[in-house]
Amino acid sequence: MVIAIDGPCGAGKGTIAHLVAEKLNLVYIDTGAMYRCVALQAIRDNIVDDSDKIIEMVKKISIRFDEFGKTYLNDEDVSDLIRSKEVTSIVSPISSIIPVREELVRLQRELASGLNVIMEGRDITTVVFPNADYKFYLDASVEERTRRRVEQNKEKGIFSDYDEIRSSIEARDYNDMHKDVGALKRTDDQIYIDSTDMSIDEVVEFIINKVGEVK
Ligand code: DC
Repeated sequence: MVIAIDGPCGAGKGTIAHLVAEKLNLVYIDTGAMYRCVALQAIRDNIVDDSDKIIEMVKKISIRFDEFGKTYLNDEDVSDLIRSKEVTSIVSPISSIIPVREELVRLQRELASGLNVIMEGRDITTVVFPNADYKFYLDASVEERTRRRVEQNKEKGIFSDYDEIRSSIEARDYNDMHKDVGALKRTDDQIYIDSTDMSIDEVVEFIINKVGEVK
């Protein structure tokens, strides 16, 4: 079984997918983390501006997840490192390199092969698994996504400026929706969820009920 979730940054896809995975005993695959691994390796190899070298590199690295949701790049736990500001600031252009996407899409299908998975990203419902059993588009208003990010930072002890976070979310939305390949899109066959006024538990329950209904 494949549950595919797409949506813009900050809509809560990671949190929701992780909780649904626990409840339904599915393997959770965070495809954004995979693009972040490529970005981290590009920084380490000092090849951020050289797409030919990035294309060569992506074929050589290994990316995997463990059952606790940790991300491994060449067997090193990079779960925290891939969330750095530096990685976040370069991952979008790297994820626009078409051969990088082809390689990661291949790997995403391989990781899911023979398993019951919940996979989230930007092109899972449209490119990676267009025939997924369940397809969701998880959305929230830009104001709410900014508010949630500011709150998350506050919990981590980081002060952040609302307007700065909002413009960076808007810039990422624009990039994610305007890629030549793998752009974030809404389609008629996705189940659309606007989580602006919903709690995490309400969204999880909504997805689990939908999966139960369609079964
Ligand atoms: O979900 P995230 O913020 O961790 O994703 C990191 C970047 O990777 C983001 O700029 C969008 C891109 N991405 C993508 O192009 N396709 C995916 N399936 C997942 C993420």
